[in-house]
Amino acid sequence: MLVSGSGTNLQALLDADDLGGEVVLVGADRHGVRALERAMSAGVDTAVVAFADYDDRDAWDAALHVRVAAAEPDLVVLAGFMRILASRWVRSWPLLNTHPALLPAFPGAHAIPDALDHGVKVTGATVHYVVEEVDAGPIVAQEAVPVLPDDTAEALHERLKMVEHRLLVDAVRLHCRGRLAVDGRHVRIAS
Ligand code: GRF
Repeated sequence: MLVSGSGTNLQALLDADDLGGEVVLVGADRHGVRALERAMSAGVDTAVVAFADYDDRDAWDAALHVRVAAAEPDLVVLAGFMRILASRWVRSWPLLNTHPALLPAFPGAHAIPDALDHGVKVTGATVHYVVEEVDAGPIVAQEAVPVLPDDTAEALHERLKMVEHRLLVDAVRLHCRGRLAVDGRHVRIAS
């Protein structure tokens, strides 16, 4: 699992019953984030490959990839991971990402302020498989969240995260049980 921040999605996976798998490594692109503390408290290995320690993006990306490969994951989950990965990642593993908007609306790193600025009445959360193009992969799950009249980005994000936690746990559970099949842009869920 790759993280950059508070790690509430990580916590949801760590707390989930019957996940059908376990979190073997939590990797971060920066030191000192709360997600790393959560991993350590749960006895999960951590790896910090700090973007700031590398001269160029590809050297950083390759170093993180080597570290993740050593953990031999079957799935890589991105949750609040704020860097774009090179194509070597999608060639190596299936990856799931959680995004705080109803893709394809509001892709990118500013989904919540972008939705508020646009004046939408409804936004939501999306869990999708990762492809090379950012926030463009086949969608596993989505759920709408209303935008309230005087919403702030912080308040809306808190409500979105509640939904993200549930969708991400469900998606990882389904993936681990082999119940998700990607067919072009479509993700079929086997019963
Ligand atoms: C989530 O809302 C994720 O979609 C976004 O960053 C947030 C990460 O939250 N890109 P956390 O680190 O899992 O608490």
